[in-house]
Amino acid sequence: MGILMWLVFSALTQTLATFETEHSQKDASFTQNTVLHRHKREWEWNSIFVHEEQKIDHPVKIGKLKSTKATKNSIFVIDGIGANTTFVVDSHGDVFVKKTLDREKQSIYNLTAKVIDSQTKQLLEAEEKFYIKVMDINDNVPTFTHSQYNGSVPERSNGGTSVLKVTATDLDDPTTEYGKVVYDLLEGKESFNINTETGLITTKTLHDFTINLDREKKDTYKLIVQAKDTPSFKTGGTSTVTVIVTLEDINDNLATFTQGNYNFDVKESESIGFIIGRMKTEDKDELQNKNPIFTIKNPDDGSIFNVKQDFQKFGVITLLKALDFETIQKYEFDVEIDEATSMPADNEKELKNSKAHVTIKVLDVNEPPVFKQPSYNFTIEENVNIGTSIGSVSAHDPDKAKNTIRYSINEDSPLRIDPTSGTLYTAKELDREMNHLYAIPVTAAETDHEGLKSQVIVNLKVSDVNDNDPELGEPYSVFVCENDGPGTVIQRIYAADKDEITPGSKASFALASPNANFSLVDNHDGSANISVKQGGFTFEDTKEYIINIVISDNGQPSRSSTILLPISVCKCEENRINYHCMKPYAQTGVSVHAVTAILLCILTILVIVILIVMRKRYRKDTLATLGKSSGEIHEQLVTYDEEGGGEMDTNGYDVTVLNSARNNSIMPGPCLYATVQKPAGKADMGIMIEVKKDEADHDRDAIPYDTLHIYGYEGPESLAGSLSSLETSSSDSNLDYDFLNDWGPRFKTLAELYGVDASEDDYEY
Ligand SMILES: *[C@@H]1O[C@H](CO)[C@@H](O)[C@H](O)[C@H]1NC(C)=O
Ligand SMILES: *[C@@H]1O[C@H](CO)[C@@H](O)[C@H](O)[C@H]1NC(C)=O
Repeated sequence: MGILMWLVFSALTQTLATFETEHSQKDASFTQNTVLHRHKREWEWNSIFVHEEQKIDHPVKIGKLKSTKATKNSIFVIDGIGANTTFVVDSHGDVFVKKTLDREKQSIYNLTAKVIDSQTKQLLEAEEKFYIKVMDINDNVPTFTHSQYNGSVPERSNGGTSVLKVTATDLDDPTTEYGKVVYDLLEGKESFNINTETGLITTKTLHDFTINLDREKKDTYKLIVQAKDTPSFKTGGTSTVTVIVTLEDINDNLATFTQGNYNFDVKESESIGFIIGRMKTEDKDELQNKNPIFTIKNPDDGSIFNVKQDFQKFGVITLLKALDFETIQKYEFDVEIDEATSMPADNEKELKNSKAHVTIKVLDVNEPPVFKQPSYNFTIEENVNIGTSIGSVSAHDPDKAKNTIRYSINEDSPLRIDPTSGTLYTAKELDREMNHLYAIPVTAAETDHEGLKSQVIVNLKVSDVNDNDPELGEPYSVFVCENDGPGTVIQRIYAADKDEITPGSKASFALASPNANFSLVDNHDGSANISVKQGGFTFEDTKEYIINIVISDNGQPSRSSTILLPISVCKCEENRINYHCMKPYAQTGVSVHAVTAILLCILTILVIVILIVMRKRYRKDTLATLGKSSGEIHEQLVTYDEEGGGEMDTNGYDVTVLNSARNNSIMPGPCLYATVQKPAGKADMGIMIEVKKDEADHDRDAIPYDTLHIYGYEGPESLAGSLSSLETSSSDSNLDYDFLNDWGPRFKTLAELYGVDASEDDYEY
């Protein structure tokens, strides 16, 4: 009320002011209430006002400059922006406006005034500032900041909920009515309010809120807002704007089924999680605000079926449990929908199908055979006779047809099966130590035309029978030290057994025959200690000691084995740490097989060497027989005291070997070839033979059969000189092959090859 009073008062004042100004303009007299009384200076004038937007045909007087110093000869001069163009002054001090003014462009003009003597051009009065104020008229209408406003508010909002604020501005003087703006709703008043001063749009409070702002009835409102200036008057400048208010959805509708009855068929073979069908629902809310909850009732088959929302918020029935046509052919139940709405639902009173009746028919499917058990476990002792029964499996046709079943098993399986009874028999001898667990697939097939099959795994465990002798845990290399005193434990031995070890039954040890030098003490924990009875072993003593041990496994029945354990004598430092044995320690326990193998190896190498030698020999012979004169080129080899070395004898000895033996460089030591120093003198041959014979007879390391004995001696008269196959490449090339030319055209090529020119080339033959 106070504001209104003030508005009226200020409006009145304004009007009065306007009136007075206009009046004073006509009279050109400036009246008392606006006169400025200057005491120090002699200027006297009114503030000058002029209305904007006046039509100016000729200069219009708007005020007068007065000075007490003014004389008849004085003139008035004004200065400043607009002076003498927009505003002019005459000699009497009257001020005129020459142009139409716009307050919205410039609302005040600051000027200065002077009084000058027209003759002396002297200032009669000091320069003084004054202003001309442009008076507003209502020449502008309010303008909205947007051409259209868009707002949204949740549907069903309480009264007073803010939607949005509109704003309009007026270019007219805001201190006057002309520049003030008020708002009003021209359209949309039934649902919305607007604050006339602030422009804030809010929802309206209605007695029956259920009819207000229901998105499902009307989701968009078009509001027209008016802005008007000069609030105190009915008239004034106005403008309007459109405000679009959209309602946001909330969950205020309950879902219902579109049908009262739903019928579905499902095959009994469908797996768990299978979607049996969809129950369509109806809900006016937007998808994200639909939240139907489905419950299975009458009877509660919730353990067999499940109904839940799909992405469309429909009810989807899925299978929770395997179905069996042979047990139940049809299911019937009700499904209820419930939904928690955020307020009493719009459709609460008009619900149709909040419950639906569901019928599910189970369809028969020809199913594969079913085994009585998901898997079978059998145990059988190893070594049982082939054909021993171990148990049986059983399957049946779950369908009405009740087809007979045939069983089968893989060919290479250790079991076979009776095709009709399902009894399993061993098909192989079973050795636990080879394989003690089998997983054998067994197939059952129906005998009808479809022949549906299923498989089951038979787990066969082979149980142990004491069928293995106990052994030593590892190949022990036992040695006794020269300095081992009586009672020294020289080795702890452990037993091993491929059979299952029965708890509590440890292998036991005993001496098979009394031993004068060593004793054996059973530790009763599967191990035994070998110790020295009395010391005094000597390294040089070549006797091999052997201890004869009996190991018993104490199984059912008990098995035992006798083990001969050789013991070497060694030179040891203290604490038996570093030792040196007569027989190489590593050789302990080397078997006859190993020795044979080594010998065979040596023999093979020997044969290869002989073959190479023979090949070279043969080539040389071939070449030699090419010409008669080549008869001179032969080895002057003499062999003595030989019993023949098999093939060795047929071609005599190879010069290569001979030569290498003489050089002592290529062939290894005297074990294969005895080297003989060439004795000096002519009659030395006899001595040399004797020496050689004696050496051969007494050489223990020699291989025990008659073999090569090459004497690096060719006799003092030998012409062969240094002829040797090792040196052929150099010596032979120096030979004269010119005789080949004499042999006729057939040997021409050969003659060319071995001719004088060819002798410089490297060649092989
Ligand atoms: C309101 O929506 C209309 C149409 O989509 C658009 O032209 C206008 O600019 C929007 N107004 C505001 C203030 O965003
Ligand atoms: C080992 O026993 C034999 C037979 O009793 C005996 O002659 C020999 O001296 C013993 N050797 C040692 C080193 O005790």
